[in-house]
Amino acid sequence: MARNYSMVLLFICIFLHLILVNCQSSLAPALYVFGDSLSESGNNNFLPTDAKANYTPYGMDVPSGATGRFTNGKTIIDFIAQSLGLPLVPAYLSLSTSDKINIKTGVNYASGASGILPETSTALGMVMSLDKQIKNFRNTVLLKTLTAPAQLKNLSDSIFWVSIGNNDYINNYLKPANYMSSWIYTPQQFANLLVDRLRKGLRNMYILGARKFVVFNIGRLGCIPAIVNSANPKPTTPCVEDVNNLVLLYNTMLPGMIRELERTLIGSIFVHGDAFGLNQTSAEESL
Ligand SMILES: *[C@@H]1O[C@H](CO)[C@@H](O)[C@H](O)[C@H]1NC(C)=O
Ligand SMILES: *[C@@H]1O[C@H](CO)[C@@H](O)[C@H](O)[C@H]1NC(C)=O
Repeated sequence: MARNYSMVLLFICIFLHLILVNCQSSLAPALYVFGDSLSESGNNNFLPTDAKANYTPYGMDVPSGATGRFTNGKTIIDFIAQSLGLPLVPAYLSLSTSDKINIKTGVNYASGASGILPETSTALGMVMSLDKQIKNFRNTVLLKTLTAPAQLKNLSDSIFWVSIGNNDYINNYLKPANYMSSWIYTPQQFANLLVDRLRKGLRNMYILGARKFVVFNIGRLGCIPAIVNSANPKPTTPCVEDVNNLVLLYNTMLPGMIRELERTLIGSIFVHGDAFGLNQTSAEESL
């Protein structure tokens, strides 16, 4: 009798456990991340580059210390993953082959100092450009096709986060001593080039199974302290507005490009993220 009673209790516990586990269901099955230092979670630790964040004070507010995130604590991706009810998204290069097969909740391909253009992604050593990040996503898809094809059904419900382009200005167009781009292209032509390349990348992601995209524009690069401090002559305004205006050429075209993709790529959804609208007030205040 006592034994039956404990069996019943055991079943109740199992039942409750199943309900609780189901209650913890996430808002999306997975989060796949493409981008630069704003988004990365440790890929550059595995790459021959100076653009690393694996030492203090990076990570100073987390018990485990620096991880390769370019921040004192969490990146925006960590917050997004948590609010979707997903675990933190691991760096692609930190995963073993069996990790890549088994992971269902997403992968982070982002790489600090990278850009939309492959040549941007060599400014500080070899990091993973957008093309390379998409190639790694393709490898993930191929691996799962061979080993865990059921997981691929979830790709169409997964979130594809794309936040890139900052370094195509910071490390490339705004570095005329290192790069020819500002000699070759007018600001508008360069913006066109970036939008064009990003469009190709997004299309390739769609072909591989991505459907739900969040695509960010470029932030107020003219407010970054390093840009303000290196401006000559020194700006009389808190930010270098010429640089912000340069970025605006790209940002103005981006919404039209993603709207057009949404129209032509059946079943796709694109959300535009406005990084430019998020003012870097702390950078401005520090001046
Ligand atoms: C697909 O996603 C759901 C959660 O949205 C999850 O319960 C399920 O296990 C996933 N399927 C595969 C094969 O990964
Ligand atoms: C953001 O900063 C710009 C100056 O760069 C300013 O004109 C604008 O009003 C600010 N917007 C907000 C919401 O603070």
